[in-house]
Amino acid sequence: MTAPVLEIHLSDSDAADALHHDARVGLSADPKWLPSKWFYDARGSELFEQITTLPEYYPTRTERELLRRSVGKIAARATVDTLVELGSGSSGKTRLLLDALTANGSLQRFMPLDVSEPALRGAMAAVAREYPELAVHGVVGDFTQHLELLPAGQDRRRLVAFLGGTIGNLLPDERAVFFTALRAALNPGELLLLGAGLVTDPAVMVPAYDDAAGVTAEFNRNVLCVLNRELGADFEVGAFDHVAVWDATHEWIEMRLRARRAMTVRLSAVGMTVRYAKGEEMRTEVSGKFRREGLGAELVDAGFAEQTWWTDPDDRFAVVLAATA
Ligand code: AVJ
Repeated sequence: MTAPVLEIHLSDSDAADALHHDARVGLSADPKWLPSKWFYDARGSELFEQITTLPEYYPTRTERELLRRSVGKIAARATVDTLVELGSGSSGKTRLLLDALTANGSLQRFMPLDVSEPALRGAMAAVAREYPELAVHGVVGDFTQHLELLPAGQDRRRLVAFLGGTIGNLLPDERAVFFTALRAALNPGELLLLGAGLVTDPAVMVPAYDDAAGVTAEFNRNVLCVLNRELGADFEVGAFDHVAVWDATHEWIEMRLRARRAMTVRLSAVGMTVRYAKGEEMRTEVSGKFRREGLGAELVDAGFAEQTWWTDPDDRFAVVLAATA
C-alpha cells in the first residue's frame, strides 16, 4: 500500500479570499445571498452527515439504493483505472462503487476532490484502510474551478462520480459551464456518473430540507458561524430562522435565513457593515431538482450523448451514467 497523497489546490488563503469576495458581493446584493459551499466547515460537514440519516431526507438513501442496483452494470461498462469523486464529502456511497470497480480488477486509483479538507482527510484515510491495494490521491479543490487539475494522462480511463444531487447547488448557467468544462477535461470514452434529485411532490421535497429535529436548521445557520469565525463577523446566530421553500418557477428548493428582528452586523475582516430588516430573508442555498428530458438535454448539449438512467419507483432521484463521444 502506498501512502495517501493530498494535493491542495485551494490554499487557506485562496479560500479566505473567495469567502471575503462572496461575502462582499452576496451581502451587498438585494436580496442578500451566500454560496452554499460555505456550509462545509468541519461542523457543517458533520451536520450534513447527520442530515443524510434523517427520515425526511430521502435523497441519500434513494441514491444509495439506485447505486446498489446499478453498480454491477456500471462496473461492466466501466473498465476504468481511476475513480474520481467530485464533492466527495465523507464518501459513504463510494464504497458501493469501489467494491464493484475493484472486483473487475481494473481500478488502481481513487481521487476524491472536495472543498472541505477535514471531510477529505477522513474519507481518504477510511478508503486507504479498507482498500489497501488502491492508490488514494485526494485533491482539496473546488469542482467549479479545478477540473483541469485532475491528473489525466493519455492512458488514463477515468470514471468521474458526481453524486448526492450536488449538481443542483449550481445555478443553471453555472451548471452549463460545469458540464462543458468537465467534458473538456475528459478523454474520449471516459465516463460521468451523476446523481440528481428529480422534481417530485413539494410535500416530500420541502420536509427533506426542513426536518422536524431541526438538524437542517442548524446546518443552515452554521454558515453564520463560519462568517463569524473566518471574517470576524458578529452575527447573532440564534436571531435567524431557517426557511426552506419550493420555487416552482426555477424548480429548486431554496434555503434562506430570516432575520427575527432588525439587526446591524459588522464583518470586521471585510470592513463591511450589513443591515437586516426584521423578517428579511437571505438566500443560502438552491438545491435544483430536475426532469429527465431537461437534464438529459443539458448533458447532450455538453457532449455527453450516450446516457444510461436509473430512477427509483417514486421517481424522486436519478443516477445517470454518461459517456463522452
Ligand atoms: C449535499 C448539496 C446534495 O442539496 O440536498 C442538504 C445539501 N442542503 N440539506 C442537498 C443539503 C440541505 C445537499 N447536497
